[in-house]
Amino acid sequence: MAVETPLKGNIGDSIRRKEDDRFIRGRGNYLDDIVLPGMLHMAIHRSPFAHARIKSINTEAASAVPGVIAVVTGALLAQHKLAWMPTLSGDTQAVLVTDKVRFQGQEVACVIATDPYVARDAAALIEVDYEVLPAVVSPQNALKPGAPLIRDEKEGQTNNHIYHWEAGDKAKTDEAFSKADRVVKLDTFYPRCHPSPLETCGIVADINSATGHATLYMTSQAPHAHRTLFAIVAGLPEQNIRIISPDIGGGFGNKVPIYPGYVVATAASLLIGKPVKWVEDRSENLISTGFARDFHMSGEMALSNEGRMLGLRVKLLSDNGAFYADAQPTKFKAGLFHIVTGSYDVAAAHVEADGAYTNKAPGGVAYRCSFRVTEASYLIERLVENAAIEMKMDPADIRLKNFIQPDQFPYKSATGFEYDSGNYPKAMQVALDKLGYQELRKEQAEKRKKGELMGIGVASFTEVVGAGPGKQYDIAGLRMFDSAELRVHPTGKAILKLGVKSQGQGHETTFAQIVTEELGIPAADVEVQEGDTDNTPYGLGTYASRSTPVGGAATAMVSRKLREKAKKIAAHLLEASEADIEFDHGKFFVRGSPSKSKTIQDVAFAAYTNLPDGMEAGLEGVTYYDPPNMTYPFGTYLVVVDIDRGTGQVKVRRMVAVDDCGVRINPMVVEGQIHGGLTEGFGIAFMQLITFDEEGNCLGSNFTDYLLPTAWETPRFEMGETVTPSPHHPIGAKGVGESATVGSPAAFVNAVIDAVGHLGITNIDMPVTSDKVWEALNKVGAAE
Ligand code: CDP
Repeated sequence: MAVETPLKGNIGDSIRRKEDDRFIRGRGNYLDDIVLPGMLHMAIHRSPFAHARIKSINTEAASAVPGVIAVVTGALLAQHKLAWMPTLSGDTQAVLVTDKVRFQGQEVACVIATDPYVARDAAALIEVDYEVLPAVVSPQNALKPGAPLIRDEKEGQTNNHIYHWEAGDKAKTDEAFSKADRVVKLDTFYPRCHPSPLETCGIVADINSATGHATLYMTSQAPHAHRTLFAIVAGLPEQNIRIISPDIGGGFGNKVPIYPGYVVATAASLLIGKPVKWVEDRSENLISTGFARDFHMSGEMALSNEGRMLGLRVKLLSDNGAFYADAQPTKFKAGLFHIVTGSYDVAAAHVEADGAYTNKAPGGVAYRCSFRVTEASYLIERLVENAAIEMKMDPADIRLKNFIQPDQFPYKSATGFEYDSGNYPKAMQVALDKLGYQELRKEQAEKRKKGELMGIGVASFTEVVGAGPGKQYDIAGLRMFDSAELRVHPTGKAILKLGVKSQGQGHETTFAQIVTEELGIPAADVEVQEGDTDNTPYGLGTYASRSTPVGGAATAMVSRKLREKAKKIAAHLLEASEADIEFDHGKFFVRGSPSKSKTIQDVAFAAYTNLPDGMEAGLEGVTYYDPPNMTYPFGTYLVVVDIDRGTGQVKVRRMVAVDDCGVRINPMVVEGQIHGGLTEGFGIAFMQLITFDEEGNCLGSNFTDYLLPTAWETPRFEMGETVTPSPHHPIGAKGVGESATVGSPAAFVNAVIDAVGHLGITNIDMPVTSDKVWEALNKVGAAE
């Protein structure tokens, strides 16, 4: 009988996730599980109109409901200078309305009551007299002369334009286009969608009126940054603020911004002197918290007759809603959208981006994405598909012809990114082999002869994850580094405290594995703590797949710091010179005599009991890591679809996903991340849309209109990998959490276009629903 060696949890070991033990038993500790003595509850009265001036607010009926403690309005907040707050993009956002509402679902007033249901009922009794104004729901209309001015309260704002921003070299790009044999164009729209985490957003604000200490339990992906922002916005001394982000049921970018509900609950706790809980419901989450995408994109690619890409020109119009609240580094007005040259060696590129205010909810969060990379990846991969159709080239061949080659790394892109490492042809080859690409192309040709529609979609994405460096990347001015503090106890067990914060990604397991690799302490003996600002070192949080590239690097570096001290202690214990001590998987030994050794546990004990003369006691340290560059994960995704001409229904027959995220800490966790990401990409490509009617009513405010893929619809994913380590990351890892959501929508849509391109259909915007496909087929006389 084979005896399995238990995995210790080194890098590369697929050990089970420690945290799942409590999650699968329903024993997690989420925001709504928190109940404090004397706790009150808050509910929000929201605007039914997208654009309306407020003539008056009558709170009498609401205040008279038994159990209601207070009704908070914008006027009350204004007395405390809290009616407006800054956004992550340096704009301002109304906390509660004082002048006019600017999107449907905007926060108008709040009720604080002894019971959540009383609070809700009373909120419905607030009477608001609105003067309805014409709503603007598309950025194109918003920028037309004479469009209603949405931000009329902003001094100097005379239209709905927010920003103009450019990247790349315009003259060089124009020159490339002037020399091109062909120019391929694509106008496409990446629709507004929503991260929709399983757990919605919420807060329990507990301000102790005797001490002035504020304990804020929050669904926060970035607790330290939020603490600083709270200190600045509310004028509270930062040392008196403790943010505790408990178990979080998914974030995907939705829990990065500060929402009005957080601010009002905190202000209410301060004024009333009791804890106040606010937890939004599903519709509130969908209509008022950070949306994603909503990018109108036009791309033009200059090509030679041989299919070499010579230049790329991109125009972008983003719909930012009523307040410019995108979560992104301040230097980049359209986030990192300018990585739009993707995996291709394009010598010249120029990107122009404009943003507009509309009467829609603000947000612009990077939904499982690094600051708008998803939109960029979608545009370039769709454009390459159309180039292949127009040039009658195979979509895999045109990519292979234009990939940045392995020996070109580090590669400087035309818009200023320095890609760290990659081997795109290899990832593509692994994917093509796994799929049996050539055979399927033959099948497609046979089917086409019979009039059947089958498509093979290709997408070879490159991602950019792991912000900083702090010099270039910041959130609201805070430099994007991250941190790890490691304490090894006398018995050789350890606590690792991090500045990042898991929302379900498995940090308690994978970050322990980094310590195991570096110090030899089994992962089971390393307790990982995150999310309590009093108890963890300062960090910028978890979003944009930055935990492994930055927090993971900090963990490796602090472990190495401790290893250096441990080596000195081992030399002392082994009565040898430090220069002769070697370390291997948790054992220190004298070079040449491996039997003369001490374990990390022996050394840890000695750190508190038997130290060399003059050495400080203890084995602990902290590292703040500012990465020298981002990491650039990549991959090739292939999708096979069959389309029914009678109904337009698209069936995903197969999906092969080959990812390269450098060294994989825990391959099973990585695969789980990719599975989740692909599922979300599938949902975005085929099912999800938050849209608005002409009056600005949100169509997509519940899960019967806004569809999440379940196991029923989701295709089976076949996965493969290549490993190209990041040269600058201490353990060679790149981030992975968002890759699949970034890369897969284009693969799904390209499969559809590959099936119908020969009929002259070169674009169907997401979500690619049956009705849209049927209509497109019908237009060219190909529907049944
Ligand atoms: O920042 P976030 O945690 O969302 O994303 P990530 O850094 O890509 O990590 C997602 C999960 O995958 C974490 O548990 C990582 O430790 C794990 N991971 C891994 O095991 N190996 C990698 N090369 C990258 C991530």
